[in-house]
Amino acid sequence: MSTHDRLLIIDFGSQVTQLIARRLRELNVYCEIHPYQNVDDAFLAAFQPRAIIFSGGPDSVTRAGSPRPPASAFTLGVPILGICYGQQVMMQELGGLVETGHGTAEFGRAKVTPSGSPLPLLEGWFTDGPEQVWMSHGDHVSRIAPGFEVYGTSPGAPFAITADVARNFFAVQFHPEVHHTPRGADLYKNFVKLAGFTGDWSMASYREEAITKIRAQVGDKKVICGLSGGVDSSVAAVLIHEAIGDQLTCVFVDHGLLRLNEAEQVVKMFRDNYNIPLIHADESDLFLGELEGVSDPETKRKIIGRLFIDVFQKYAGEIEGAEYLAQGTLYPDVIESVSFSGGPSVTIKSHHNVGGLPEKMGLKLVEPLRELFKDEVRTLGRELGLPDHFIGRHPFPGPGLAIRCPGEITREKLDILRKADAVYIDQIRKHGLYDEIWQAFAAILPMRTVGVMGDGRTYDYALALRAVTSVDGMTADYYPFSHDFLGETATRIINEVRGINRVFYDCTSKPPGTIELE
Ligand code: XMP
Repeated sequence: MSTHDRLLIIDFGSQVTQLIARRLRELNVYCEIHPYQNVDDAFLAAFQPRAIIFSGGPDSVTRAGSPRPPASAFTLGVPILGICYGQQVMMQELGGLVETGHGTAEFGRAKVTPSGSPLPLLEGWFTDGPEQVWMSHGDHVSRIAPGFEVYGTSPGAPFAITADVARNFFAVQFHPEVHHTPRGADLYKNFVKLAGFTGDWSMASYREEAITKIRAQVGDKKVICGLSGGVDSSVAAVLIHEAIGDQLTCVFVDHGLLRLNEAEQVVKMFRDNYNIPLIHADESDLFLGELEGVSDPETKRKIIGRLFIDVFQKYAGEIEGAEYLAQGTLYPDVIESVSFSGGPSVTIKSHHNVGGLPEKMGLKLVEPLRELFKDEVRTLGRELGLPDHFIGRHPFPGPGLAIRCPGEITREKLDILRKADAVYIDQIRKHGLYDEIWQAFAAILPMRTVGVMGDGRTYDYALALRAVTSVDGMTADYYPFSHDFLGETATRIINEVRGINRVFYDCTSKPPGTIELE
């Protein structure tokens, strides 16, 4: 158990609950997210939180049987912050009223104006007038609970910010954790300050705690780690190696869905930089064979997930005493597949390293990054001494090029895609844009288009280019390349890569898109 002061986030199923944890970790506050189903009086008594946050959620408190916090949350004497559904549930439980509104639903940006006397929670707010916030609610509070007062209002939420100052209960209708609430971080900073947190949690302490946990979990057993060459699995491998040394063997599976020269680079880098035993498994025939004729995205992911596990099991069988499989699963992977610890949010995609696991896998899992966000993994990587150029690499998904090849996957398409992607990334590097972009890649579209090259007609594949900025992969904006850059890149790709005669640039943000095409 952590020795830090702990903040408990009770998850009511919001898609952005984990961003609350992010904001808190930026403040060096140790927090844990637990789905409301797991939080009862006994849990609270054992957890001993210094403060509690109620997340948002998709349900309606007006519905009988909708999620509730345990009653003892309100009698522990610790500060509570309720967000969106969290506000509504707080009002409902403490004697206010929530209604399903007609005409009071708000989705997207809204302006909150101050009301009443200054509130310590709002220090730094309203200095330049109304604050922009991000709303996403159908229900609304129509009467606040006794003891509460209003400190901010918006056109659709007369009770946008409410507080019972005597009890340190705060409740807001909007989401301060998302970037579309630009000063939301201040609100969390003020909340943890008034709750008395000292900010004693850091990546150095995470490293130490993770190492202790890995040793306790694994004992003297052997672990195999699936290495993809990406930052996540590499950081996981180095961390586990630090914890248990040669009890770890890495297996690098080449599923035939890697980028140009990637397999050679990964193997070379690991042999050069680390002293970790590495098996290079070329299983491309197996993966591409099973994917033949498959075009449904979820089926692809499931096949790849299943084969990964099969392959690992095969190699694990050859390593005497191997009982554990290590993976670089991140928190966003976990929450987008099933909410953290089986909580209530809705499935968007089954990321292969979680969703594809067979029920009866012969290996137990070690996932030391399961609670971290992408940028935290990078910080941990630096903490562990991994080279900067390596840590700065764009994320690459486990299913690889399979999800950048919508529709049926063929070797021909993969070959074209690899070459086109390499030209695109080369362009980005040459223009000095690589580090500004969170993730960039090409995707080959399941269509051919007519073109003219020289004096001849062409009928070739169309390519989509994608580049996004993001903090954690949960939300993303498309990158605003200049038209010159796009024109030059399209020309280079069409000239240098046989099989592509048309290039599109994807201007979709996330949401409503996702980063990958599938
Ligand atoms: P999406 O497409 O869900 O992607 O917006 C968010 C981030 O996750 C990566 N991604 C994956 N990573 N296994 C992974 O390890 C997967 O199955 C997977 N699917 C998406 C994606 O590249 C982006 O960085």
